[in-house]
Amino acid sequence: MSQARSVGVIERFRDRLPFGPTDPVVTLGEGGTPLVLAERLSERVGAEVHLKLEGTNPTGSFKDRGMTCAVSAAVREGAQAVICASTGNTAASAAAYAAKAGLRGAVIVPDGKIATGKLAQALVHGARVIALRGNFDTALELVRELAARHPIALVNSVNEFRLEGQKTAAFELLEDLDGRLDALCIPVGNAGNITAYWKGFVEAGAAPRLFGFQAAGAAPLVNGAPVKDPETVASAIRIGNPARWEEAIDAMRASRGAIRAVTDDEILSAYRLLAATEGVFCEPASAASVAGLLKYGADGAERIACVLTGHGLKDPDVALEQVGAVVPCEPQLRAIERAVLG
Ligand code: F0G
Repeated sequence: MSQARSVGVIERFRDRLPFGPTDPVVTLGEGGTPLVLAERLSERVGAEVHLKLEGTNPTGSFKDRGMTCAVSAAVREGAQAVICASTGNTAASAAAYAAKAGLRGAVIVPDGKIATGKLAQALVHGARVIALRGNFDTALELVRELAARHPIALVNSVNEFRLEGQKTAAFELLEDLDGRLDALCIPVGNAGNITAYWKGFVEAGAAPRLFGFQAAGAAPLVNGAPVKDPETVASAIRIGNPARWEEAIDAMRASRGAIRAVTDDEILSAYRLLAATEGVFCEPASAASVAGLLKYGADGAERIACVLTGHGLKDPDVALEQVGAVVPCEPQLRAIERAVLG
């Protein structure tokens, strides 16, 4: 596994990806992420629940699987620059892979609505970060128009290479579980990832049920209509009009699954539970998968995987709002005894 991790998903799954042996590969060693059995959660749910820790990818989210493919393809096509609209993680990933490839990167993010860690990443990798006075949906519309007019590679999940790369997580799950998986729980925002997983499962001849979860304040697929002003603490999935709408609905139907809503309170409660009882720190959007499993169950599934899409360190502000205060202490033994034992 450690060897597989270092080579990246293109090298590891090249026979199932649209890359030839001599194509340029831009990789940071993404993929090969841990699958951890969640003992406490399994007890609660009454099934075997595994957590796919996508936050351990190089930039801290699953986006890296797709970004290695999108940026490698952009280099193959001779692109000089890449661009995306993003709630944060795509921006961080695009910025890092653009830096690695020596391309210019521009990212459009909703002003004031992206987590601090993600903003720091995009900036530190040298991308031009544009804070749009509008939400993600508007940013994506604008960036699609811009990419149609200029020779800039669009690396949002409307780019097919992104889905190709992200489907490799489904291959890894099946490998790690010897092909036996009954249900997958996954957060849904722009709906690229659920689409990619289904593609991967179908290609591998598997058909677990897909249970997708949206935040209640940003649940267009649940409501059956776009949400004009989406709102949720899970800023990564604050999306009102997903680009992969039809594909996500098709994946849900074909897998006999469901797409449902979880409230911010339910998301944060799952987020704290994962951190405090499983030792896993994910970002709020990722916890939607576990919140959904706890709320709705998995319809008799015996073996379940929850995708934890991004690392908790991405969003330190939400983390600190959720926990107790630190214990102040004078630098004396008596004081420290009281502070530690008291
Ligand atoms: N979880 C996290 C941590 C995300 O960053 C995203 C999407 C999702 C889940 C949902 O995945 O969009 O494929 O349905 N983030 C995008 C971004 C939109 O710009 O970083 P999806």
